[in-house]
Amino acid sequence: MGSMIMPPRFIAQQLSHPKGLLGRVVGYLMNKHNAKMNAFVVEQLELTATDRVLDIGFGGGAALPALLARAGFVGGVDRSRDMVEAARARFACNVASGQAAFREGTVEALPFEGAAFGKVCTVNTVYFWHSLDAGFAEIHRVLAPGGRVVVGFLPKQHMDRMQMPPDIFTPRATEDVTTAITRAGFSRVSIERPQPSTVWNVVVASR
Ligand SMILES: C[S@@+](CC[C@H](N)C(=O)[O-])C[C@H]1O[C@@H](n2cnc3c(N)ncnc32)[C@H](O)[C@@H]1O
Repeated sequence: MGSMIMPPRFIAQQLSHPKGLLGRVVGYLMNKHNAKMNAFVVEQLELTATDRVLDIGFGGGAALPALLARAGFVGGVDRSRDMVEAARARFACNVASGQAAFREGTVEALPFEGAAFGKVCTVNTVYFWHSLDAGFAEIHRVLAPGGRVVVGFLPKQHMDRMQMPPDIFTPRATEDVTTAITRAGFSRVSIERPQPSTVWNVVVASR
């Protein structure tokens, strides 16, 4: 995702909170770069046509076409107003038909009612959360009992090598994520990867 012409700090800021025209370019690049992790996360959701699914921090919308193709309703939350506006424009037909709703907001205060979803996913966002406990408590709130959460991220040992600015990125160890999910009240917590050699983790848990 790096570039020779953009300073690393600027790229980190855009990944954390994409803004403006360059934010849209970064959103496009994120989609390309994160396609495999997003596809695997969607697979782990085990969606059916009646599911209501929420994508938190959807960014450039890498997972959204697959979610819309499989689920009855797709909610999206992102703290970037520009990403929300771009998703509303790109998926205007789905919004108009009532199949999708994209809202500006944060994982720490999700703009949806309790038990509104059966599935929740979030990909490459945990580094930016102010608090894993607050985020997973909110995910627990918006999930109906028996619901499933799927979290994709690059764990700390790999993120550390990328030397992202620590005031923007908080690298998350796998056990930090699994412990916080368990503390929030989730059960059947597992770590999934498409191949044993895959460097990223997808944590799956039940409400
Ligand atoms: C690196 S991008 C990942 C986008 C997409 N999920 C993907 O995999 O390509 C991170 C996105 O999460 C959003 N984000 C970061 N922190 C957030 C938070 N606390 N609550 C909601 N969205 C957040 C950012 O605005 C950005 O669009």
